[in-house]
Amino acid sequence: MLKVYIIFYTRYGNTLKLAEIIAEGVRSVKGCEAVLRRTAELAPEEIIKKDERWKKARESLKTIPEAKASDLFDADAVIFGTPTRYGNMSSSLKDFIDKTAGVWVKGGLVGKVGAAFTSSTTIHGGQETTLLTMFIPMLHHGMIIAGIPYSEEKLFTTAAGGSPYGASSVTGEMADRPPTEEAEALAKALGKRVAELAMKLKLGEEAIKKQD
Ligand SMILES: Cc1cc2nc3c(=O)[nH]c(=O)nc-3n(C[C@H](O)[C@H](O)[C@H](O)COP(=O)(O)O)c2cc1C
Repeated sequence: MLKVYIIFYTRYGNTLKLAEIIAEGVRSVKGCEAVLRRTAELAPEEIIKKDERWKKARESLKTIPEAKASDLFDADAVIFGTPTRYGNMSSSLKDFIDKTAGVWVKGGLVGKVGAAFTSSTTIHGGQETTLLTMFIPMLHHGMIIAGIPYSEEKLFTTAAGGSPYGASSVTGEMADRPPTEEAEALAKALGKRVAELAMKLKLGEEAIKKQD
């Protein structure tokens, strides 16, 4: 089985929701497995305790193990997810990435497919800048970046979520709006695409080895 890791941070669960939809897309490809991992919570416990929604969302993360840098060696492809924070990735995901120097030194992600997803309150609040800036460390790691191509017709009609740069959802002022039908379809398409590309690379590598 090829393993597509989905590594994300979430506070209120919106990015988790997208991760689960993307995982469905990954699993729709025969021979591919989706592995969900969350990045560490950096917020102090006393702050979380005062926020019922945050506490509840944390409960739903209990069954998902925390991501380790060594997971990246095990992954055949990685899809990173984060809430949009001032038009950029969250400190938790960045903290995880900043701890991957050991993987970088060994070229652990070189030639693996990478993609990104995000969730934000507003449509024009920086989803695209978040997704694009997430690609930078992926490129440093030698990953092959995958987005969503316009052959996915819903990219022409979506009003809130999903772009050529990756999957996304717009959660509204209270951060409680689920992904629209179109955003969901595009998130699933991203998972499927990354899994298919990883499979093609694997089969291609095997074919090259046979020729040698
Ligand atoms: C510190 C901080 C910065 C944020 N910055 C943005 C932003 O730049 N644009 C935006 O639309 N939403 C922003 N948000 C809102 C979150 O991106 C949004 O609520 C998201 O859906 C939360 O996802 P989650 O439920 O996975 O944590 C910000 C939230 C926080 C706490």
